[in-house]
Amino acid sequence: MRIFILFIPLLITPNLLAQKDIDINQKVDSLLNRMTLLEKIGQMNQLSADDMETNYELIRRGLAGSVLSITNPTVANKAQLVAVEESRLGIPIIIGRDVIHGFKTIFPIPLGQAASFDEELVQQGARIAAIEASSVGIRWTFAPMMDITRDPRWGRVAESLGEDPLLASKLAVAMVKGFQGDNLSNPDAIAACAKHFVGYGAAEGGRDYNTTLITERGFRNLYLKPFEATVKVANVATIMSSFNANDGIPATANKFLLKDILRDEWGFDGFVVSDWASVTEMIAHGFSENEKQAAMQAIKAGVDMEMVSGTYLANAEKLLEEKKISEENIDNAVRNILRVKFRLGLFDNPYVSSELKNVFYAPAHLEKAKEAAEESVVMLKNKNSTLPLKKVKKILVVGPLANMPHEQMGTWVFDGEASHTQTPLLALRKQYGEKVKIDYEPVLKYSRDNDISAFNKAVEKAKKADVILAFVGEESILSGEAHSLSDLHLQGAQSKLIKKLSDIEKPLITVIMAGRPLSIEDEIIQSDALLYAWHPGTMGGPAIADLLFGKANPSGRLPITFPKEVGQIPMYYNHLNTGRPPTGNDSQLDCIPVGALQTSLGNTSLYLDSGHEPLFPFGFGLSYSNFKYGEPKLKEKILSVNDTLNVSMELSNIGDYDGTEIVQLYIRDLYGSIARPVRELKDFQRVNLKAGENKVVHFQLPISQIAFWNINMEEIVEPGNFHMWISRDSKSGEPINFEVR
Ligand code: GLC
Repeated sequence: MRIFILFIPLLITPNLLAQKDIDINQKVDSLLNRMTLLEKIGQMNQLSADDMETNYELIRRGLAGSVLSITNPTVANKAQLVAVEESRLGIPIIIGRDVIHGFKTIFPIPLGQAASFDEELVQQGARIAAIEASSVGIRWTFAPMMDITRDPRWGRVAESLGEDPLLASKLAVAMVKGFQGDNLSNPDAIAACAKHFVGYGAAEGGRDYNTTLITERGFRNLYLKPFEATVKVANVATIMSSFNANDGIPATANKFLLKDILRDEWGFDGFVVSDWASVTEMIAHGFSENEKQAAMQAIKAGVDMEMVSGTYLANAEKLLEEKKISEENIDNAVRNILRVKFRLGLFDNPYVSSELKNVFYAPAHLEKAKEAAEESVVMLKNKNSTLPLKKVKKILVVGPLANMPHEQMGTWVFDGEASHTQTPLLALRKQYGEKVKIDYEPVLKYSRDNDISAFNKAVEKAKKADVILAFVGEESILSGEAHSLSDLHLQGAQSKLIKKLSDIEKPLITVIMAGRPLSIEDEIIQSDALLYAWHPGTMGGPAIADLLFGKANPSGRLPITFPKEVGQIPMYYNHLNTGRPPTGNDSQLDCIPVGALQTSLGNTSLYLDSGHEPLFPFGFGLSYSNFKYGEPKLKEKILSVNDTLNVSMELSNIGDYDGTEIVQLYIRDLYGSIARPVRELKDFQRVNLKAGENKVVHFQLPISQIAFWNINMEEIVEPGNFHMWISRDSKSGEPINFEVR
């Protein structure tokens, strides 16, 4: 009997979910049939929270389906009360908010979280954000952002999950699962929003909102991958259309993407929301003549809900009368919106308890945020094992990011409070101040400060210290939306400060807090050790302090390539080989003779001044441990498309510190019906090894995972010869061959 009972849940769970959806769809249709046209259009209208008195009236008349950015539970309950008790049909509103990397407890920026390569930790962070945000009535977040980008000039790289489609897909799925929890109808679940659909991270020149030109194959083999994963694996509840126009077509009116792929191919059944006024911005794009046409184009393309620009409410009735849109367009949009509201349980449970649960900054939340910050930090240099700090008695802390709680939280933080942020300076003093004298000179007041008047005082103090800790980087406002840069060197006089300190012949440890890769070749040369901490959030200070003193061991790996110079961009690891790939000993600027005759033969694809290599490759990062990679061993070297590649490799920690290694599996398709990348990340594992310990690491890669959209626009595995690497980053390791027949 017991065995029989055991199997029942397994057999009926999928049926139970299907039945639940049938029930919800029946409720949706029943409600839809009772709605007036205006009430339907009302559901498609999202309001901003600027003028709640006006909003209450619109909600009362059934003319609003959502309000963005209410963060006060009393206001949230008032808005719901009007919707549920005072409107004709009592349809609850859905309250959305940008909860990007935490609500009150702020986690590292998503680019920093991506450096952890830790799906479980990223999911836990999103879960904590959902618990905190839902406690004030927010049941929808406009996250995760999963725009693949290869351009650190773009300010929104800070919100992204980096340049690789596999890493971005896995972490985006983890975030959606964290936000949405086990059951979307749980009061602490919030609907996730996969954004920005799609290709926004390819903005020309890394300039935000700029044009993109991505082919269908480029969409399918790269930019769509994370979105497809969140739809098919994590059942993401909503999708947000992006600002960019691709090949002249704004994403907010791109039917091929929003309907043919998202709905017809992938079966997405949540709802699509526009980005902030991206409907009316189609006029500026020169794609829509006026608001009425913009509304028509967005509705017909499949944007179900309009974020704040109000053209649906103003024009949809007329557009229907003029048969420029159909009743079906409206009904489908409203069904999608109502389906998500039912799934969220808003009809049964529209209110939030107004007495604030003490979930904000809960100790467990802070501990998890510290763990996330520790795992996000990437050690880029550690000459002569300068770190971890040992036997130091006097530390001089300098720099404009050492004690800046607001800046440390990073971009897209509206609700986190600087007063709760623990900075490196305060953490160092609190955690290590009894053993070590910690002196502090900011020297520069903020990252763009050019006032060097305090340099000499800092230099004099540095001469008396055992070690110098320099905290430099970016104010949080210098990355994020609409904050692109054309020069990635450290702002202000920061580079001069590092240079000045490096001339003192004292151990110089540089910690960089930034929202993007910066051009730090000089700082790397001048520092004895360098930690890249991104913007690490509320607990960045305690995390960095423990990393510096060896209580924690750096394990972060770069989720994006670090170019030497901005002029090398775009530079990314999974590039094509070109017809003239660099050989490694190519002629460069300083070896060209004066009066050289014109030549190109024998030359290859590189920059004469900065070569063809980045400063640091994707996947790179150092540890206090010393990990030795054995020879990978393939179980079979000839496989069919239905097989699984089984590979194992012995990893040894021959160092003195327990640590975590991110073991990465890459492949290369040596030739295909289209040129293929020189490497593609296909799996990775976080492996914890004690000092002296070794372990055989196993990977199972289904050959189906190496399918791609080929010359005929088929997603298939093409037989042929492949290289495979098990390596510590995207540049190291020796390939071994396998064949698919
Ligand atoms: C913004 C962003 C989007 C955000 C939305 C609401 O302009 O592009 O990511 O979710 O508006 O704040």
